[in-house]
Amino acid sequence: MATETLQRGQWGSRIGFILAAAGSAIGLGNIWRFPYLAGEGGGGAFVLIYLVCVVGIGMPYLFAELALGRKSQRNPVGAIMSLVGPRSLWVIVGAFCVLAGFVILSYYSVIAGWAVGYAVKEVIAPGMPFGEFVASPTMVIGLLAVFLALTLLVVVGGIEQGIERWAKILLPILLVLMILVIIRSVTLPGAGEGIAFFLIPDFSQVSLDLVIVALGQAFFTLSLGMGAMITYGSYLAKTEDIAISGGYVVIFNTVVALMAGFMIFPALAATGVDAASGPALVFLALPEVFAQMPLGGLVSVTFFVLLSIAALTSSISLLEVVVSYFVDETAWSRKKSVLIIGGFTFLMAIPSALSQGAVASLSDLSYLLGDDGLFGANDFLSLLDVLVGSVGLAIGAFFLSIFIAWVWGASEAAKELEQGGSLLTPGLIKVWVFMMKYVLPLIIAVIIIGNLVGIDV
Ligand code: PHE
Repeated sequence: MATETLQRGQWGSRIGFILAAAGSAIGLGNIWRFPYLAGEGGGGAFVLIYLVCVVGIGMPYLFAELALGRKSQRNPVGAIMSLVGPRSLWVIVGAFCVLAGFVILSYYSVIAGWAVGYAVKEVIAPGMPFGEFVASPTMVIGLLAVFLALTLLVVVGGIEQGIERWAKILLPILLVLMILVIIRSVTLPGAGEGIAFFLIPDFSQVSLDLVIVALGQAFFTLSLGMGAMITYGSYLAKTEDIAISGGYVVIFNTVVALMAGFMIFPALAATGVDAASGPALVFLALPEVFAQMPLGGLVSVTFFVLLSIAALTSSISLLEVVVSYFVDETAWSRKKSVLIIGGFTFLMAIPSALSQGAVASLSDLSYLLGDDGLFGANDFLSLLDVLVGSVGLAIGAFFLSIFIAWVWGASEAAKELEQGGSLLTPGLIKVWVFMMKYVLPLIIAVIIIGNLVGIDV
């Protein structure tokens, strides 16, 4: 066991784990997806529902993934095999996790590449509009390669010397940069209106669809449903309290999402740009906002650097899911796994990179999906995001929650939670077991059905 732990690695400290897992959680989901969803969903009303979903549903399920990982000390496939044997059909759920890690990493790196590009845009392409920028094959593929290379470099260093070390460096930088942008944003004349929009709930916008979107976002933002937290949990020492460490991850992630709102909405209000501009908010509307404010150039660079950092600490967790599978289950070394998976991810990412205008047959899939697309997605990147990042994660979370609550057994899982832990009193443990067995599967099923029926905020 000792040599095995040495080979797999382990977090060096509690704060190291918290920062790494918070780094996974904090990403494009907080700074790009959350603000535009809030912008479209009536501001404060969405924020309130989102908070309830994160704390009430996301957090208990996060504990479950961490517990499964720590119990088995394995990647998602190995974790499931360790409980039900290699021939069980449940192994398919683990395999889905590894595949989802690979697919999400591919398109996530494309968007993260844009962020890197925007951070240096004044140098590489001054004045180039977003549409033209993403339609340039050399630009998008080059940036994708740069971002993916950074991800590989961190992961090849292993758990303590790679992921943990970089999380400890990058997260504090991220926070400081965010605070700088917030200070600029909230001191703009007219900023108050944006803060009011973000904080004061407008319940007329609330619908069942909005609740389903908020729930889906709660899973995405906490990196749940595809085994990232099983994997990170597998490097946790038995002496750690999962509830305390996991609780910090939730707090940290929530604070950063709220901070993103304070960066973005006051600036939008001050410059009169519409908050409900959808996925393009960060790349289209914000540069317009920055261009209009004093010190805008500097703020713009700062913003896109921090967006790149947030994306990097998430992409390393996506890659780690796949790498941990190959390190645990095959004879491949970490270095070999990282290089081979990195190569395949790059190839897989190319169609996504070219799907925003560079190649017409990837950018408009109407000839395959009809004029409305599939669940509203009509280009290759959006299609992967909907199929894997939204519906896929919800289906993954559904089966993982059933597996943990009913196959492993919620009371067994609770023992793993109690090991090394004191935060969860016997009463809270009972609540958790009940949630895992009945409430979570039901609620996750509602998200899946909502997604399949086709929701529209
Ligand atoms: N939580 C990350 C974000 O908010 C995305 C992510 C999803 C990362 C799933 C890992 C696994 O951007």
